[in-house]
Amino acid sequence: MSTVYLNGAFMAMEQARISPMDRGFLFADGVYEVIPAFNGVLFRFEEHLRRLERSLSALYLINPHDRAGWRRRCGELIQRNGGGNLSLYLQITRGAADQRDHAFPDPPVPPTVFMSTSPLAVPTVNTPDRITGVAAITLDDIRWARCDIKSISLLPNILLRQQAIAVGAREAILIHDGFVTEGAASNVFIVKDGEIATPPASHAILGGITRDLVIELCREQDLPLREREISEAELGDADEVWISSSTRDVVPVVTLDDRPVGDGRPGETWKILARHYIAFKRRLCGV
Ligand code: PDD
Repeated sequence: MSTVYLNGAFMAMEQARISPMDRGFLFADGVYEVIPAFNGVLFRFEEHLRRLERSLSALYLINPHDRAGWRRRCGELIQRNGGGNLSLYLQITRGAADQRDHAFPDPPVPPTVFMSTSPLAVPTVNTPDRITGVAAITLDDIRWARCDIKSISLLPNILLRQQAIAVGAREAILIHDGFVTEGAASNVFIVKDGEIATPPASHAILGGITRDLVIELCREQDLPLREREISEAELGDADEVWISSSTRDVVPVVTLDDRPVGDGRPGETWKILARHYIAFKRRLCGV
C-alpha cells in the first residue's frame, strides 16, 4: 500500500481525504509537479522547485514551504515508498472554502498540499520505446494562452493525448497557427541536416525540465541546437523527431501521422544524445 502526503501528514493512500469544496476539485485551481527519483535520488529537484515557484506565483499562491522544507518532505515520501525508481506527483491547490465562488477566498484559506508516488520504469538503452521508437500524430493546440504554468487544469491535454491513444499513437504533437508548440505532455525536438531545434520558451509551452537538460547536454557536447520556431511543414520534413518528459526521458518519434520520420527508425543524433542523457543520470543517481 503506498504512502501519500497530505497537508503535513504521511498516511496510507486509502486514508487520504480531501473536501469536495476543494478548489482543485471545483475549479482546477492549482498547480503541480512531476519529479522523477532514480535510486531514491530526486532528479533535477532544484529545477522542479524553481518551476513550482513560478507556477505558484502566476496563480498568486503563497509557497507553503521553502526549498529545504520541500526537500525534507519529498525525500521522506520517497523513502517511505521504498526509494528506488519512483515518479513523485506534487499538487497544491488554493484550498477549500465554505462557498463555491470564482473569486479567491477572502480571507485566504490554507492551501491543500498533496503528494504521491508511482513506480517509474527507468528507460535504458534496451527499453522498447528506445529500440523501436514511438508513433505520434499532429493535432491542433486547443489549450489556453498560459501553457508555461504547470496548472492542474489538463482537460485539453488529456483529450489530445486520448485522441493519439485512440489511433494507436503515443503522443499528440500540437500545432498552433502553423507552428509546433509541444506534445500533450512532453516537449518536442526535431533534427534536420544535423541541426537540433526546439520551440523557444514562451507562454505557449511548458518549460520542461527534461527539455532544459537536453539543451544543456547538447551545449556541453557541442551538438548544434537552436531554440527557434518550427513550422508544421518542417516537422513533417524532419530527419528526426524526439519528445521529452520527466517520466519518459527523451524518446524518438519514428512515425508521424502514419508516415515514417526519416528512415522510420531512431536517428543517429538521438542515439548520441540518449547516450549522454543516460550517462548524466548515471553520474547523478547511479542508474
Ligand atoms: N508532464 N509539456 C507538457 C504539457 C507536460 O505536461 C510535460 C510533462 C512536459 C515535459 O516537462 P518535464 O520535462 O518537466 O517533465 C512538457 C508531466 C510528466 C505530467 O504531466 O505527467
